[in-house]
Amino acid sequence: MCGIVGYAGGRQALGIVVDGLRRLEYRGYDSAGVAIVDEGELTALKKAGKLANLEKVLADEAVKGVTGIGHTRWATHGGPTDRNAHPHLSVDGRIAIIHNGIIENFSALRAELTAGGIEFASDTDSEVVAHLIAAQGGDLTQAMLAVCQRLEGAFTLLAVSADQPGVVVGARRNSPLVVGRGKGENFLASDVSAFIEHTREAVELGQDQIVTITPDSIDVIGFDGKAAVGRDYHVDWDASAAEKGGYDWFMLKEIAEQPGVLADTLRGRLTEAGEIALDEVRLTDQDLRDVDKIFIVACGTAYHAGLVTKYAIEHWTRIPCEVELASEFRYRDPVLDRSTLVIAISQSGETMDTIMALRHAKTQKARVLAICNTNGSTIPRESDAVLYTRGGPEVAVASTKAFLTQVAACYLVGLHLAQVRGIKFTDEVAAIVAELQAIPAKVEQVLSTMEPVRELARELAGAPTVLFIGRHVGYPVALEGALKLKELAYIHAEGFAAGELKHGPIALIDQGTPVVCVVPSPRGRSILHDKVVSNIQEVRARGARTIVIAEEGDEAVAQFADDLIYVPQTPTLLAPLVTTVPMQVLAAEMAHTLGHDVDQPRNLAKSVTVE
Ligand code: F6R
Repeated sequence: MCGIVGYAGGRQALGIVVDGLRRLEYRGYDSAGVAIVDEGELTALKKAGKLANLEKVLADEAVKGVTGIGHTRWATHGGPTDRNAHPHLSVDGRIAIIHNGIIENFSALRAELTAGGIEFASDTDSEVVAHLIAAQGGDLTQAMLAVCQRLEGAFTLLAVSADQPGVVVGARRNSPLVVGRGKGENFLASDVSAFIEHTREAVELGQDQIVTITPDSIDVIGFDGKAAVGRDYHVDWDASAAEKGGYDWFMLKEIAEQPGVLADTLRGRLTEAGEIALDEVRLTDQDLRDVDKIFIVACGTAYHAGLVTKYAIEHWTRIPCEVELASEFRYRDPVLDRSTLVIAISQSGETMDTIMALRHAKTQKARVLAICNTNGSTIPRESDAVLYTRGGPEVAVASTKAFLTQVAACYLVGLHLAQVRGIKFTDEVAAIVAELQAIPAKVEQVLSTMEPVRELARELAGAPTVLFIGRHVGYPVALEGALKLKELAYIHAEGFAAGELKHGPIALIDQGTPVVCVVPSPRGRSILHDKVVSNIQEVRARGARTIVIAEEGDEAVAQFADDLIYVPQTPTLLAPLVTTVPMQVLAAEMAHTLGHDVDQPRNLAKSVTVE
C-alpha cells in the first residue's frame, strides 16, 4: 500500500528512483511523484494515474541531482488526483515528504497549522508532515524526530531538504521501510525489490525508528532519540526474480513458478530425525504440546489458505482449529490464553489487519506463529516463531504462488504439531511429506494442460456471473476461485459450499450460468464425491453450464460436465494444491480477454498496510 523509494549516492537519482518505483508499483498505482535535490535546489514532479503518466512528464524535464525520493500511491485520504499525489512540499518548497500509512490525528494537526496561516495544497493526511518539519527547522533528522513524536497512526515517511543535499531521512511506525546498503550509495524502500538490482545487502529497521542515509552512512535512532541499530541481512534472490522473465504479466510468471516455489517451501524442512524444521523458533516442543486450540488469522487469499489447511490440521493433530478473518478477530473478543496457538498467515508480512490480530493475541498471552513470505517483515518479527514460505517476490496484486506455498507451509506446521504431540509417528509424517513432495510435479502437469482452460476463459469472458462450488477442502478452493475472478475480471463471482446451494443460492442459476465445480477424489472419500456429483446434477438441471475440475480417472462425473478439467490424482487433504491452479489460469485469462490490467486490478494494491 504505497511504494516508497529514497536514494543518496553519487549517481543521478531520478532514474534510480523511477526504476525503484516501477518495481513497487504493485503497492499502489493511483498516482506517482518524485523529489530530487541538487545543490540547494529541490525539484518535485507528480502526476495522477500510473507511473507511466509521471514518466511522460519526466521525459520533458531535465532533473539533475544525486539525492531523491519517489512515491507510488494507493489513495486513503484525498482522491487520486495530481494535487493529492506525493511528494508534498513545505510552503517555501524546500522540504519534500512522502508517506505510506494513515496519520490518524491529522485533522487536529491540520487545524493547528491552518490557524498558524498555512494554506494546504492537498486533501491528504500526509501534507501536515511537510509543514511540521518545516516549522521545526534545523537538522532534518532532528526535525523528523520531533514531528514523529507528535504523530499518531501508522506511517513510513521519507523527507529531503534543499538545505541538506545528500541526505534522506526516513521514519517508520507500523508500516514497512528497509535500507539498502550500497557502496558509496544507500537506499530506502518499502521493500527490497526497489533496490535489488543495486545491492542485496539490506538493513531491517525496528518499529518507531528514524534512519538517516547519506552516500556513506546509515544512522538509526529511536523515536526516543537514542541511537539504535538495524539488523543487517543478505537478500537471497536477485533482480531477475522480480522481473517478468518473458511473460506478459507477472501473474502468469508467478503461476508458472508454482512447482519450483512449492519445492522450495518443502526443501530441507524434514530433518534427518524426521522433524519439521521451523525457521526461527521461539516456541519449545513443550509449548507446542500445551496447545489446546488453534486460531488461524489472515486476510483474503491467505485466509482461504487457512480455511484449506484447517481440515488437515484438525485431522492430523486432533486440536480444534478455527479460521478467522484478521479484520474481525479482535473485535469479537475471542477466547485466548497461553495454550492457544495463533497462526498468522501473510505473504507480505505487513497486512495491518493481520498485525493487529496478532498483537491482540499477544496481549492475551497466546503464542503466535507466522507463516510468511517476506523475510524480516513486521508479522514474523512480532511473532514467537516463523515458517517462511520461500515463495520469492510476488509482484502481481492477485496472489497465486503465495497461496500454494502458504497451504504447504501450514501442512508442515500441522505435521510438526502432530509429531511433537505424539499423534503421528516419524514414518507417518515422512509418508505425508513424501506425498507433499510429489505435488510440484503434479502442479507442473496441471500447468502443461491449461490451453483448454484459456479457451474456456475467452468463451466465458462475457458472462455476467460465475459461481464456484465445492465441499470439504473444495469449499475454500471455490471461495478462492471466486475471489480471483472478482478481483481480476471485475465480474460477479461467488463461492459456495455445494451443500448450501439448495438453501438459497441455487436461485441464482439461470440458463447458461457458468458454475465451476470442485470435485473431491472418488477414492477414499466416496461419500463426499457422490454428494458433489449430486450437487452438480442439481445445478445442471436448472440450466447451469458446469465446468468440472475432477481428478484423472473420475469417469462418474464426466457425464455431468459441460467442460471437464482433469487434474492428477492427489490425496483429498492435499488436493487444493492442484485444484486451485486451473482457477488462477481461468481468472488471469478472462481478465486479459476483457482488456484489464492483470497485474494491477482497479482499486486494489498489494500489501494492505491500513486497517
Ligand atoms: C488476493 C490477495 C489478497 C491478499 C490479502 C492478504 O489475490 O492477494 O486477498 O491475500 O490482502 O495479504 P497478505 O498475504 O500479504 O497478508
